[in-house]
Amino acid sequence: MKQPLTASASARLSGRIRVPGDKSISHRALILGALATGTTCITGLLEAEDVLATAEAVAALGAEVEKSNGEVKVKGQGVGGLRPPASALDFGNSGTGSRLMLGVVAGHDMEVEFTGDASLRRRPMGRVLAPLAAMGLQTDANEDHATLPLVVRGTGDLLPIVYDLPVPSAQVKSAVLLAGLHAPGRTTVVEPVAARDHTERMLGYFGAELYAEDRGAGARAVTICGDAELHGARIAVPGDPSSSAFIIAAALIARGSDIVIENVLLNPTRSGFIATLREMGADIEVVGGRDEGGEPVGDLRVRTSALKGVSVPPGRAPSMIDEYPILACLAAFAEGETEMQGLAELKVKESDRLAASAAGLAACGVLARVEGDDLVVEGKGEVEGGGLVDTLMDHRIAMAFLTLGLGARKPVTVDDASMIGTSFPDFVPLLTKLGATFE
Ligand code: S3P
Repeated sequence: MKQPLTASASARLSGRIRVPGDKSISHRALILGALATGTTCITGLLEAEDVLATAEAVAALGAEVEKSNGEVKVKGQGVGGLRPPASALDFGNSGTGSRLMLGVVAGHDMEVEFTGDASLRRRPMGRVLAPLAAMGLQTDANEDHATLPLVVRGTGDLLPIVYDLPVPSAQVKSAVLLAGLHAPGRTTVVEPVAARDHTERMLGYFGAELYAEDRGAGARAVTICGDAELHGARIAVPGDPSSSAFIIAAALIARGSDIVIENVLLNPTRSGFIATLREMGADIEVVGGRDEGGEPVGDLRVRTSALKGVSVPPGRAPSMIDEYPILACLAAFAEGETEMQGLAELKVKESDRLAASAAGLAACGVLARVEGDDLVVEGKGEVEGGGLVDTLMDHRIAMAFLTLGLGARKPVTVDDASMIGTSFPDFVPLLTKLGATFE
């Protein structure tokens, strides 16, 4: 059942909060924990639907997952040591969980059915199946048009490959590297622009041998040495920058706000949003930058700021790919035009986020247009609001437009806030704690 929710102009936001653990790192901690020998202890794991689906999947494949005293423990089965599940693996709304686990299953001699919800069943799986099939994964699906549900058969005899990513995707890169763990020799993925590198960082942290090489013009080659052994590790998951993005945006537009978000992941492959906001004139200060478990983290102090429109180059897209819906909403509060270039990948997210962002803005009285793969928003310094926004089963569209409502003149309603539970169940409670109101 759909759950509509309305956000109205907010009083000033103030206080200190922590956002829940990073979704990308949470998926990977569970997956590498399952492939390691020994026990992996995870603190700060994101307990949202997407990650819980991955936890259920690794448990169904034989890696015990249990929670006690705020810590999640995964009993690893070793690389190649998972066993066939009793039924289909259901990844709900999660592209990351399903695509990374296709890479894991590829290296196991077993047949597995992958499925998901209506949104995930529309998303392209061919981008992962193509390299995995070259390594030896079998599937009946037509690779070019594959979608879930699909049945795949892995093998204990994978071939190592060198793969040039046709799209800048951390999910595809990760799926190939995870399969490469269980192939003899070296598996290399060449990415046109460096996408998030949590898989590489965490593989190194778990003891795998891998290295990265610059290929010029932003491109990178990442190589994993196969027949790897991973050792269970302790992981402290830092706060999710993609969830923080909504809170930062709310503080920037709700007049007189001054907040601190503690312990946010500041990995440079995820920091494009903050870089862009600073170019727009946002007052964001990093306090106490430090390194935790191989990832940079820090506290962010954010104060309400007058924003100006900017041009966001296509090369920045991978480092802020999930933040475009909220950037598009913020751009409406800026003075002048914001042009976001090279957003083809936005069309294959939980919804077509390029179209959904433009439609939501139009419903809220903002002039926005899609030009090919670019999104252009006319900022007028203030937003009328008053719209009903279609969220299309997309958590980030729901949160972006509720945030827009906190700064708009008239309340903004999203048709369905239930999908927020896939990534950031604390979105409403945390903003409420800072001073926002929803009904
Ligand atoms: C993710 C990678 C990105 C991102 C997604 C999480 C990951 O997808 O949009 O939310 O954890 O690897 P792509 O790799 O498909 O761009």
